[in-house]
Amino acid sequence: MGQLVWLITGCSSGFGELLVHHVLSRGDLAIATGRKLDKIKHLELAGAAALELDVTRPQQDIDDTVAKAIAIHGRVDVVVNNAAYIVMGGWEDIEYDQILAQFDTNVFGSIKVTRAVLPHLRERRSGTMVFIGSLSGWHGHPFVGAYAGSKFALEGLVESLSRETEAFGLKTLLIEPGRFRTKLLSPGNLQVMQSKIPDYAEASREHANGLAKEDQTQPGDTQKAAKIIVDLVRKEGCAAAKDVPFRFPLGPDCFSTIKEKCEETLNLLQEWKDVINSTNHDSGTDIGSN
Ligand SMILES: NC(=O)c1ccc[n+]([C@@H]2O[C@H](COP(=O)([O-])OP(=O)(O)OC[C@H]3O[C@@H](n4cnc5c(N)ncnc54)[C@H](OP(=O)(O)O)[C@@H]3O)[C@@H](O)[C@H]2O)c1
Repeated sequence: MGQLVWLITGCSSGFGELLVHHVLSRGDLAIATGRKLDKIKHLELAGAAALELDVTRPQQDIDDTVAKAIAIHGRVDVVVNNAAYIVMGGWEDIEYDQILAQFDTNVFGSIKVTRAVLPHLRERRSGTMVFIGSLSGWHGHPFVGAYAGSKFALEGLVESLSRETEAFGLKTLLIEPGRFRTKLLSPGNLQVMQSKIPDYAEASREHANGLAKEDQTQPGDTQKAAKIIVDLVRKEGCAAAKDVPFRFPLGPDCFSTIKEKCEETLNLLQEWKDVINSTNHDSGTDIGSN
């Protein structure tokens, strides 16, 4: 595979920052983006191009930034939708605006950036769209429903995108990391709404303490994950001579959670098969008219 041009969102820390380094180390070109240019200056020094991009900006602004990105090297081959954050808060405590803001960044940001790049990729009949989903796109942990909802939303949106665009030779890759050591749970990035409702107070406090303890003790090595992501896109290393699947979980915690959920789902289908299959009209189905 020749040299690729990568456009990556949310590069000030974590997956985004390390991806930029890995992309450069493989001889590819990186366009690092972030909300504040001063937080990605070091990536420019490392050899990336840098552009300011807050994924919550209006579509027109994002279109303009993506046009600038394409102009830098004349093309973009890979777009990585990485920018996101977590707001913690239970259903009865979290403000509606906080849920909207969570989806604005984690879901609508990815939609806007991808819609800005997609015509370029489609016209060239080539490109890879990478989305950083999550274990939370499989499992809704308590008190982080807004985040889990945003990652579940990505699963469906991106699965459709993949099916819509594969005919144009475009590849879509939905990476689902487990717990990796980044700044996702660090003070300043993680937003915490402790419950003010006595019924939830203890569980909410325990959950917030659990997330605080997890910060910088997560088992996942983000360097290893970044290398695998570049391998999957470039079809090298672990992905050499392999068909790369659309969904790609990363980390043993993700492996066991997904396996358990699949097994639970299969058991449910088996146990309730007769009821589930009992709902068609007795006169028969007419699938052709749907
Ligand atoms: N770490 C994990 O355990 C884990 C697990 C599953 C999925 N993920 C996913 O991995 C991705 C990267 O997160 P991370 O773990 O690397 O955490 P991180 O270190 O906190 O990085 C998140 C990045 O997103 C950026 N960002 C937030 N809001 C933005 C916006 N409106 N516009 C542009 N950039 C914005 C942040 O920039 P600022 O510095 O400007 O805030 C930061 O660069 C996310 O999609 C996350 O959901 C992480």
